[in-house]
Amino acid sequence: MLVLGIESTAHTFGVGIVSDEPRILADARYNYVPKVGGIHPREAAESFISNAPRVLSEALRSAGISIESVDAVAVALGPGLGPCLRIGATVARVLAVYYSKPLVPVNHAVAHIEIGKMLTGARDPLVVYISGGNTVIAALYGGRYRVFGETLDIALGNFMDTLARELGIAPPYVVEGVHALDRCAEGGRYIEMPYVVKGQDTSYSGLLTAALRVYRSGARLEDVCFSAREVAYSSLVEVAERGLSQLGKREILLVGGVAASRYLVEKFEVMARYREVELYVTPPKYAVDNGVMIAWTGLLLYKHGVTVEPERAYVRQRWRLDSVDVYW
Ligand code: FE2
Repeated sequence: MLVLGIESTAHTFGVGIVSDEPRILADARYNYVPKVGGIHPREAAESFISNAPRVLSEALRSAGISIESVDAVAVALGPGLGPCLRIGATVARVLAVYYSKPLVPVNHAVAHIEIGKMLTGARDPLVVYISGGNTVIAALYGGRYRVFGETLDIALGNFMDTLARELGIAPPYVVEGVHALDRCAEGGRYIEMPYVVKGQDTSYSGLLTAALRVYRSGARLEDVCFSAREVAYSSLVEVAERGLSQLGKREILLVGGVAASRYLVEKFEVMARYREVELYVTPPKYAVDNGVMIAWTGLLLYKHGVTVEPERAYVRQRWRLDSVDVYW
């Protein structure tokens, strides 16, 4: 079985092709880079339109197949940015209708988790999903990924990117797999920062404000980066550890773009060793947004009979992880 998957929820337009062995046959991507500041949804969507045909044909060429031979077309219908989501949805609907292929609706968050499980071999993990738009602690229970903790305001990745930008140390945010904040933190010393954990939830907006205030009142740049980073990462590890105790899980799986931070991984390693649980980390190449994760999750869904009529394949900007049925 071959499934083609399309990702376009934020800054990546990606097309992946997978088989059920499982094998990755193609992974083509276009990444939108904003000229200034953060992601501009309409500008990103326009750049997707001009790059989509090239990415699609690159995927088919590298897989060595024609579109006729795929069994289904999968697409990330949410959560994400409306203008960006609509480009992927349009391309997928056209392919499904024109080539008479079943269309499979995929939740982007579920896809981050499933590609992590497929590539690492994790079976029943406590999932820590950390990216530019998400900070979620989840686990599969009763046929759905239940949320056991999340950020009360901004996501961890958003916090890191915004702080780096405001401190004038980015873009680029990530160079050779190291985030600007992690790089800047080297040699820093700890100064007091607000550490917020409420129940099972984290919070980063107060930390962002405090870090900028401390910097503007004359603190050393590396001390600000180090302290903000330590507080942000530690509060996440704390809620994850509590999630482990609560749920009795023996595995932790890190998914999403921020899982590529080796400093964060080191903190999780220490915690996992102490608690004698297995730590799995999604390989950085597939921890960030890509079409392969959509294709793989689409394949799992398609095998369980999940499809959608093209005219009913609406995008859902706030499609929650815990509203999706997981049949496997
Ligand atoms: Fe993502």
